[in-house]
Amino acid sequence: MNAARLVEARDLKRVFDVSQPWLSRVIDREPRRFLKAVDGVDFAVDRGETLGIVGESGSGKSTLARMVVGLLRPSAGQVLIDGVDLFAAGDPSTRRDVRRRMQMIFQDPYASLNPRWRVGAIVDEPIFAFGLMEGGSGAGARASNPHGITERTGELLRLVGLDPADARKYPHEFSGGQRQRIAIARALASNPDFIVCDEPTSALDVSIQAQILNLLRDLQEELGLSYVLITHNLAVVRFMATRVGVMYLGRFVEIARTDDLFARPRHPYTRVLLDAVPDLTMSGRARTPVGGEPPNPIDPPPGCPFNPRCAFAIERCRNEVPPFHDNVACHLAHDDPDWLARA
Ligand SMILES: Nc1ncnc2c1ncn2[C@@H]1O[C@H](COP(=O)(O)OP(=O)(O)OP(=O)(O)O)[C@@H](O)[C@H]1O
Ligand SMILES: [Mg+2]
Repeated sequence: MNAARLVEARDLKRVFDVSQPWLSRVIDREPRRFLKAVDGVDFAVDRGETLGIVGESGSGKSTLARMVVGLLRPSAGQVLIDGVDLFAAGDPSTRRDVRRRMQMIFQDPYASLNPRWRVGAIVDEPIFAFGLMEGGSGAGARASNPHGITERTGELLRLVGLDPADARKYPHEFSGGQRQRIAIARALASNPDFIVCDEPTSALDVSIQAQILNLLRDLQEELGLSYVLITHNLAVVRFMATRVGVMYLGRFVEIARTDDLFARPRHPYTRVLLDAVPDLTMSGRARTPVGGEPPNPIDPPPGCPFNPRCAFAIERCRNEVPPFHDNVACHLAHDDPDWLARA
């Protein structure tokens, strides 16, 4: 086993049944319909690194994220944390420990915090849920400490730049950026080594975004955390990510080190994404605007899923699904690794 490797996803898939209700299906003679939200994804995250994931709305980023932290069961495939399968039946204490080690931060700090709980109770709930306090876990420990204000709570609040006295307040007394800090403190409460951040700053003002991203970076350095960071914003991945994976219609089309991806995209979809942000690529090359809408994931096109929008598609792209090979899923890139730089 690779000692640097913390998380590994193997051929992960998630299918949703999006059929009409049974009766209307029978009346309209409609077949059942399935949507492949994540359709065979492999990746790994090493200790201390940040894997950025980008892709258009609906490409399956959040579905992937929820599977990777164990909130959503995959239809197929595996998630391994230090070699332990997250979804395999096993010893309950091993499973609990694996879950303790991974946390998630969501886009909307308003919705992800219980408005009726004091901040202290919100932040240290995972401490009780995972039985990390002296005095045991669960209801008993909670009853002996009803306000949920512990030394550890204060420590966590300080760690994210808040005041320990904030533990007595309610979420509505804070700004959006402060609320995201509370969510981060809560995520840190169980001493995780892996955090999935799904659009952690997209609901925040630009100036606040930078503060939260800096906080996440500082915490990473201080605590040795690994992140998966999902975002629409390429400037955010460039600032944060060690490597970047580009998703399209439930699959990765390219994974590369961040600098390489920005300097030399190998998949035409990656280049389209980079071209959509004028100040990031200063190559002086004529831009290829992205044409068309993403295809319907219930009824994806044959061949390469990107072919209807690709300026370079050849016959083969319309017939044959390109495998994800050598970190890219493109027939043209497989034939010639540098093709896109010259195209
Ligand atoms: N519970 C569900 N039932 C049915 N379809 C779903 C469900 N959850 C997600 N989907 C579908 O799966 C696909 C991927 O959704 P997902 O939320 O993972 O995309 P995303 O990349 O996170 O998008 P966004 O950038 O808008 O957050 C979409 O087509 C979505 O409609
Ligand atoms: Mg999402």
